[in-house]
Amino acid sequence: MGLYWVFKAVGLLSMAAMLFTMLRKISLSFWIWPNKAYKKLQMNGINGPPPTFPMGNINDMVTISKKTKPSPVSTDLTSHDNYSTVFPSFALWQKSYGKVFVYWLGTEPFLYVSDAEFLRQMNAAVPGKNWGKSRLFKNDRDAMFGDGIVMAEGEDWVRHRNVLTPAFFPPNLKALASFMVTSTNNMIDRWVSIINSGQQEIDIEKEIILTTGEIIAKVSFGMTYENGRKVLEGLRALQQTLFTSNRYVGVPFSKYLCLKQNWEAKRLGEEIDALLLSVINDITKSKKVGDHASVADDEKTILNMALADDESLKLLTTKEMVDECKTLFFGGYETTALALTWTLFLLALHPEWQNQLREEIKQVVGDQVVDANIVAKLEKMEWVMNEALRLYPPAPSLQRQARDDIEVNGVIIPKETNILIDVMAIMHDRGFWGDTVHQFRPERFESDILYGGCENKMGYVPFGFGGRMCIGRNLAIMEYKILLTLLLSRLSFSLSPYYTHSPAYILSLRPAKGMPLIVQPLY
Ligand code: HEM
Repeated sequence: MGLYWVFKAVGLLSMAAMLFTMLRKISLSFWIWPNKAYKKLQMNGINGPPPTFPMGNINDMVTISKKTKPSPVSTDLTSHDNYSTVFPSFALWQKSYGKVFVYWLGTEPFLYVSDAEFLRQMNAAVPGKNWGKSRLFKNDRDAMFGDGIVMAEGEDWVRHRNVLTPAFFPPNLKALASFMVTSTNNMIDRWVSIINSGQQEIDIEKEIILTTGEIIAKVSFGMTYENGRKVLEGLRALQQTLFTSNRYVGVPFSKYLCLKQNWEAKRLGEEIDALLLSVINDITKSKKVGDHASVADDEKTILNMALADDESLKLLTTKEMVDECKTLFFGGYETTALALTWTLFLLALHPEWQNQLREEIKQVVGDQVVDANIVAKLEKMEWVMNEALRLYPPAPSLQRQARDDIEVNGVIIPKETNILIDVMAIMHDRGFWGDTVHQFRPERFESDILYGGCENKMGYVPFGFGGRMCIGRNLAIMEYKILLTLLLSRLSFSLSPYYTHSPAYILSLRPAKGMPLIVQPLY
């Protein structure tokens, strides 16, 4: 009997010890450490909206968002003052706490930065490979990016970047141009037959996304149209699941609150992985790699070029290759499609710029074949692209994590701090862009093609900054110019009366209610 009580007491004591350890761990990771980091920032004069446990500022964000009326731009389309509609909480908090403050997603504090000078100094203090990516987002977006380059850190990031970079060298990209031309001409032919059947209006966002999706599937992986379509549909469904509803990211145990969405994201991610794995297996089996020089032009895909020699192949694990393909697919189709969508919207509002671009195309391209060399000479088109990316950046915010303490102008950002860089706010900052900040003025890039005359080089960062700058920038510019040249040569665009201005942040900056434009053939 005595022994029984001894065993029972030992059992109870070990359960209590386990419970204590668990509670200690929970309070350390969800309360004590995050607050310690926050206090350090506060000591440097960085404050923010007061958080509540365990939601942080999530409820405030929901309330502010509900209260936000659509910006005047819904009716007045001469101004593109959309920032406070896209990020209402940040716009409001900026008024009270300035351009650098702390807000909380659940129990995770985030350092918010929309001060270009602060960003310049922070970037100077941290080389590309020393940047981390927020663990919170890494876990949350695992189905989408996995261990691909977007989420990789340190030496891993260097390894991924070294494998991918050669594929994006200009001579390699040129081989991809002819497929872009074919695919775009097919899209335009489809539109013309729709118009000839009596329908004038086309949702160009939907259409262009299908085409850039088809292009990236083919030029990145040499995928068939059907497989490319399946990956595209999977990625879009994944994006809807992850980003169109509040899943309380950052709130402890929130993944158990949103089991259905998280399970669906996992299922979709696995489906896409399986498709991409079969593509990679085909490439490695057929031994196109290692025999790069003899690869025909129509087989020169980004994946083939990245894995051009056996060494590169050994550098990435199969899982990393799958994740890289997913990353390139997502990074490659949506951003470029959105840059074109917002450009056509702006050109629909500004027929004078449509005409100027058509005139430039006539002079530079004339009757010649549209290829990478010729579109590189379209300068005005590049001003228009840069201005569209400034007003409607497809990637409006970037995230980082400090891997070590970072000192910025005397302020210490403690190791492990999550950082959100608000690119859209920076590119809509009146302090840099003056009174015409919200106007479409491509000519601001005439004498300064890279920065549009912005005095701070961190004031114009649509492709990111530092070592983490977009790897696909040259590909995107080439694709943008090829598509726009072909579109403007055959069609004219004006705004549909059914258009509702609805720029929204759904991981990218998208027109939430689509982009119906009236499209008319020119001949
Ligand atoms: C207009 C089109 C595009 C825009 C506006 C854009 C924007 C960006 C931005 C802002 C970043 C930096 C992200 C960060 O700092 O966290 C980035 C990174 C990246 N982009 Fe793009 N992008 C475009 C097109 C493309 C294309 C066509 C591809 C590939 C086919 C691509 C692949 C990537 C990859 C892989 C990274 C991660 C680079 C790294 O972390 O080292 N992007 N992009």
